[in-house]
Amino acid sequence: MQDDLERVLFDEPAILRRLDEIAAQISKDYARKELTVIAVLNGSLVFMADLMRRIQLPLRLDCLSVASYHGKAQTSGEVIFKQIALPDVQDRHILILDDILDSGHTLAAIREKLETAGPRTIKVCVLLSKKKRRERAVDADYLGFEIEDEFVVGYGLDYDERYRNLPCIGVLRKELVK
Ligand code: IMP
Ligand code: MG
Repeated sequence: MQDDLERVLFDEPAILRRLDEIAAQISKDYARKELTVIAVLNGSLVFMADLMRRIQLPLRLDCLSVASYHGKAQTSGEVIFKQIALPDVQDRHILILDDILDSGHTLAAIREKLETAGPRTIKVCVLLSKKKRRERAVDADYLGFEIEDEFVVGYGLDYDERYRNLPCIGVLRKELVK
């Protein structure tokens, strides 16, 4: 699996060090409040598990499942919500967690949808953000790392549902990306 990587961008210790910093910031910003984390499945699973255990606040967890990639390396632009009922976000402090901000379609659609459900506050936290012009404007309130516009896998991120279990984040060899 590791052989399929062209290079490693962030190894596990580097990721966890960054999560310590983000979690400390979140714990400070939401001090004396209850936080509701909404994780966007499946890509944010590993990130969510490691981050939430570092946050020192009363915390609720909900998950959302959307599809926009259909196994390819490019976004289709269309975001499909896979569940009928949205999590109960009314009057709550919501933190949306996702693995990566690419075109912006996914997070813009999720944010828009949750905003209609009356949260008290809403913020976005992503592990990775690609340096590029977004098709839809989305700002991450908390960001792990900024990366170049390359296709990356590992630590929850997939290519065609594979590589999610790699402990590091790396650039997939170009000849493997169709
Ligand atoms: P966006 O809607 O284009 O911002 O894409 C967001 C979603 O696309 C993420 O939640 C990922 O699931 C997927 N994605 C975008 N870029 C990558 C990548 O480099 N590797 C793996 N998945 C990616
Ligand atoms: Mg994906």
